[in-house]
Amino acid sequence: MFCLILIVSCYARLILQDLEDMKYQPEESQLPKQYCKNHDSKTKYGYLHVPNGAISFIYYQGEGQQNIVYINGGPGLSSQVSNYLEIGPHSGQWNNFSNLLFMDLPAGTGYGRTNTTKNLTYEEVAIDYEIAMNEFNNLCKVNYKDVILFSTDFGARFALAIANRSKSIKCVGLLDPFLDTLKIVAEIPNYAFHLGVIDYQELIYFEKAVIKLSDDIINGDYQHENAKFFKLLYYLSGNISLYNVLEQKLYSEDEDKLEYALNNPDSLYYIPFETEFVARSQTVFDQFKYNYFEPFDNNIIQHLLNHKNILIYQSQFDMLIPPSGTMQWLISINYELDDFFYQSQLTKQMKDDQLIGLWKRGGYLEYLIVLNTGQVMHRDNHNTSMSLIQYYLESII
Ligand SMILES: *[C@@H]1O[C@H](CO)[C@@H](O)[C@H](O)[C@H]1NC(C)=O
Ligand SMILES: *[C@@H]1O[C@H](CO)[C@@H](O)[C@H](O)[C@H]1NC(C)=O
Ligand SMILES: *[C@@H]1O[C@H](CO)[C@@H](O)[C@H](O)[C@H]1NC(C)=O
Ligand SMILES: *[C@@H]1O[C@H](CO)[C@@H](O)[C@H](O)[C@H]1NC(C)=O
Ligand SMILES: *[C@@H]1O[C@H](CO)[C@@H](O)[C@H](O)[C@H]1NC(C)=O
Ligand SMILES: *[C@@H]1O[C@H](CO)[C@@H](O)[C@H](O)[C@H]1NC(C)=O
Repeated sequence: MFCLILIVSCYARLILQDLEDMKYQPEESQLPKQYCKNHDSKTKYGYLHVPNGAISFIYYQGEGQQNIVYINGGPGLSSQVSNYLEIGPHSGQWNNFSNLLFMDLPAGTGYGRTNTTKNLTYEEVAIDYEIAMNEFNNLCKVNYKDVILFSTDFGARFALAIANRSKSIKCVGLLDPFLDTLKIVAEIPNYAFHLGVIDYQELIYFEKAVIKLSDDIINGDYQHENAKFFKLLYYLSGNISLYNVLEQKLYSEDEDKLEYALNNPDSLYYIPFETEFVARSQTVFDQFKYNYFEPFDNNIIQHLLNHKNILIYQSQFDMLIPPSGTMQWLISINYELDDFFYQSQLTKQMKDDQLIGLWKRGGYLEYLIVLNTGQVMHRDNHNTSMSLIQYYLESII
């Protein structure tokens, strides 16, 4: 016990240091003007004005009829991170089967700027999306509808709020969704222990920390501040990525390099936006940090499952949102329970003689576990995740 106290106190300084430094957006005297410009024959970019600021976007006309919109999680992470490092034409090439719109939502991520510091609701973000989408169609003279909306972790809240509002969403794809915070955090210590990245003493410590956090959540205190133990989890596990127990990298370093490259006019992928590119916006994070651990209302997904396809795809090695947390949440949704969970088995998905995924489907809901990946799967291993996603999208048309 003495030893544990020692460990905890000697790491106390590190806990306060942010793992993923974020940036306040540079001050602009005015929001950038609204426009849609052609960058080349297949790429358009610009800004869209919404009640909470100016949203930036990059659009690629791809092959096929699908219309994908990608927004990111964080909150505050730019969707251009997914564009350039994960699934865009210069990375995983989802444009080989779909049109792609990378919308920097909420306003203030990426090249975009927000003009408010107030706390935002998910519904306000959904209103911003709807307005932005209308403007995108008008200014860029495209007809982007029947959208397949993808997002990750915290971004699941934005995606579901948008689908709750907007009729033009045909399907929602959520990677490691951070929705049922109570069920998720309860699974973290055991998951880390079973994967061998923390020892028994540390397990006891983290279980206590999680009980404290769960009490806070039950009492309506959802602040991000309540989770300082995540940083401790990182250090005590020997700096193993919280997003992937098989990796020791800090993913934010890739994002810093991207930020540097996109702000450099000599870079190959430079697009002449008027504003500086910010990969992780502290300004936007602050708009949501007080509700970070708020459990998201299951009624919304229950309602959506009456008429929209929802794909929940889970990585195997995410320490922050472990597969068992997602599975517990899926059971609590109570959707076609007999059919979906008790009668159907997981189906194996192979590629080149390798087992790459396991999935099951009931009605409009599909659950897919992507093996040998972490939360940042489209960056780590875009081949297998893309095959699985493509297979899914073909099967719902
Ligand atoms: C922020 O900008 C939007 C778009 O121009 C505008 O509608 C809104 O009123 C502005 N909000 C504030 C607080 O200035
Ligand atoms: C996308 O298509 C191009 C041209 O057909 C091909 O060279 C490339 O390998 C494809 N990318 C992926 C990720 O399948
Ligand atoms: C945001 O919400 C928190 C917690 O309810 C409150 O303390 C804070 O003052 C709010 N911020 C703004 C800018 O309203
Ligand atoms: C979902 O839609 C309902 C009814 O339109 C609305 O009251 C609610 O705030 C929405 N929820 C979110 C999270 O956007
Ligand atoms: C973990 O990261 C911290 C801060 O970057 C560093 O000081 C420490 O030496 C690292 N520990 C290990 C085991 O790599
Ligand atoms: C991914 O697929 C591409 C094209 O099919 C191939 O060239 C590449 O080697 C694959 N990468 C991995 C890590 O399997």
